[in-house]
Order: sequence, then structure tokens, then C-alpha cells
Amino acid sequence: MSVKIKVEGLTKIFGGNQKAILKKLKNGNSKKDILKETGHTVGVNNVSFEVNEGEVFVIMGLSGSGKSTLIRCLNLLNVPTEGRIYVDESNIVKYDKKELREFRQKKVAMVFQHFGLFTHRTVLKNVEYGLEIRGISKEERSEIARKTLATVGLESWEDKYPRQLSGGMCQRVGLARALANDPDILLMDEPFSALDPLIRRDMQIELLDIQAKLKKTIIFITHDVNEAFKLGDRVAVMKDGVIEQIGTPEDILAEPANEYIENFVQDVDRTKVIQAKNIMFKPRAIVSIKDGLKVAIKEMETEGISSVFVVDNERKLQGLVTVDDAIDALKEHKLLKDVLNHNYNTTDPETYVQELIPIASASKYPIAVLDENNKLLGIIMRVSVLSALTHDK
Ligand SMILES: Nc1ncnc2c1ncn2[C@@H]1O[C@H](COP(=O)(O)OP(=O)(O)OP(=O)(O)O)[C@@H](O)[C@H]1O
Ligand SMILES: [Mg+2]
Repeated sequence: MSVKIKVEGLTKIFGGNQKAILKKLKNGNSKKDILKETGHTVGVNNVSFEVNEGEVFVIMGLSGSGKSTLIRCLNLLNVPTEGRIYVDESNIVKYDKKELREFRQKKVAMVFQHFGLFTHRTVLKNVEYGLEIRGISKEERSEIARKTLATVGLESWEDKYPRQLSGGMCQRVGLARALANDPDILLMDEPFSALDPLIRRDMQIELLDIQAKLKKTIIFITHDVNEAFKLGDRVAVMKDGVIEQIGTPEDILAEPANEYIENFVQDVDRTKVIQAKNIMFKPRAIVSIKDGLKVAIKEMETEGISSVFVVDNERKLQGLVTVDDAIDALKEHKLLKDVLNHNYNTTDPETYVQELIPIASASKYPIAVLDENNKLLGIIMRVSVLSALTHDK
């Protein structure tokens, strides 16, 4: 995994005489005091983090916590008061005009909350915009724009105007416009916040689909913890210009760093965050097909369980045997492989608990968690699914 963006000691203060304010800040004066004393706002205060290539990095925090200020530093719409921002190991804060223009035209694109579309341009012309200012030929840009519109599901809307589109469709245009330049990095500042909940959910799924194909590096801002945890590979939580915690959704959910973050995660629908791999465990007993019936029965007796999964010597799942079937088979001189049953459910490690609930409650046996080669990674008991839902630290 390579680092795409590395931010070091980034501070952004609004207002004149920023150096003097910076000094106050370094001397330990709070954002609140500085505002009261000097009228200056500290937007972002000494923030450092890294974003990996291909990652969806979500920034979450209450209104005024500095999310927009931070993301706007990443394309220098906000010029940092202090700090370094490396993109592909090159410090963009030091860029001259020409380098910055190149950077904005080719490496980053931004998607805004209120779409920011040109109302007098058609959908197609909106998407072509970035290509146009890069001097790409008419034919080529029209072709790229059409393809990109198809990616976001708007193929027959090229000639319409933004006012003829719904909010969700406008944001698809916004997304297409950002994608048309094929940037490495997408900056998305609350792109779905203005949409109604159902459309918003569609857009989230759409973004994940697009991301699975295009593998951009995405910085995504949201107020909504469920959105943050659904989309984010990692999430940074901001408060008063400072990043209070960075982690995977599971990390943050399991161990919120402080009360502010606890208040956020209270609203999380855990079923959409916790995955099979988070609640599976190593089976107490596991039997190899070559071990045979006697070993299987002994294992089940020792562990006090009534069924056990059977694997081959590469740990690939072969089936399940119950203690009753095993004892009968032994009497009838059958082999372990003759009494394997397959009436259990399997899942991959990435499946969300939400999808496991109906399976778990309908099934007599544990759920087997398998990798793509059918290897048994772990098992999930019904009770683990239920306790995942109520688990509190
Ligand atoms: N151009 C500006 N001039 C002066 N102060 C600003 C400017 N932009 C932002 N601020 C201040 O910086 C702080 C952080 O604002 P910012 O817009 O980054 O917050 P946010 O987390 O994006 O909030 P929201 O969720 O409401 O969008 C706020 O106190 C805000 O008033
Ligand atoms: Mg904002």
C-alpha cells in the first residue's frame, strides 16, 4: 500500500496577521480564546495524517470543526498558514502557479455539496468543462464526457440542462465532471448531504461501485456517521480544527477515543459496520477428512459440541458431520466422507452482520466463514451475531 497524500503539521488560520496568531496557538492559546481576543478563526490546527492510494478516507465532525477548511487545503483553495502537504511525495504547498494549475487539472477534482454545476451549460458541456480548459479537442472531450456520464448512469441525459434534473442526478453530473479528467484524487465535501435519504443511499452505493472499478484516492466529508462508516476505509474525526481520532470504522466503534466521538458512534447502525470477520472465531474443534469417524466423535465429545466442520489437508471445507450421524455411521462401518452433510450456511469474511442476521437465526449450525478458495477461516455462532448488535464497550 503506498501513501498518496501525506499531511504534516497543517494549520489554517483565517484573517490577516496569521503569523502572530500562529504564535499564540503554539503558545497554547485555544481556538476559542484566540477568536475572542483577536477575532481570528483557527480553521485547522496542527493536523497530520496520511491517505493511502486507493483509499476512501472520510473526515467526519460537527459543523464548524474544520472539515471543509482541511479539504480545501488539499487543492490549495485554502492556502495553509503552516504545514506540508505531500501528494506523491511532492509538497504542493510549494508549487508555483504553473505546477498548481497542472495539479488541479490533472491530479485532483472536487465534488461539492451543492453540485456547483453551470446552469447555462448542458449536462454534457458541464462534464466536458475540465477537458475544455485543458485544451482537449471537441470530439475527444465529447467522447470522454459521454463515457463518464454512462459510468454514473446518465447516458441519455447529455443534452438536458441542470434545472431539468433531480438533485441526485445533478450530483451524478457533479461526480461525472470530477471523474472526466481522470484525476488520481477525488475531494468530496458533503456531496450527498443535500439529497433525500433514499437517493442518498443510492449514491453511496453508486460511489462504492465506481470506486471498486476506478480505485481513486477519495477524501470524503460527511456529518453522518453511518455514511462515514459505510464508505470509509478509515475515518478521521475532527473537533475544533483538530483530528481527535483516525481509524477504521471497527476501530472507532470498538474504542472511541473520547466522549465527543462516543456521542457520534451512538447513532451507528452496527449491523452495517461489523463484518463476518469481526465476529468469527476459531472453531474449538475441526476435523480433517483423513482423521476419520472416531476422531470426529472424540473431538465432539471432548468439546461438548454436537457437530463439527470437516476440512481437507489444505483446510478447505468438505462438509459437516453431526455426532448422531457419526455414531450411526461407525455402527454401519461407513466412512466419515459418507456422512458429511451440507445443510449449513457459508459466508465470506466481508459480509455485513445485517445480512447474517436472517441466516444465523434460521440455521441449526454455525455459519462457516470461507475465503475465496473455500478455506475455513472461522465460524460464526448465532449468539455472536446477536451480541454484535448489542455489544457496548
Ligand atoms: N473563509 C473563511 N473566513 C473566515 N473563517 C472561516 C472561513 N472558512 C471557514 N471559516 C471558519 O473556520 C472554521 C471551520 O469551518 P469549516 O467550514 O471548515 O467547518 P466544517 O467542519 O466544514 O463545517 P460544516 O459541517 O458546517 O460544513 C469555522 O469556525 C468557520 O467559521
Ligand atoms: Mg463544511
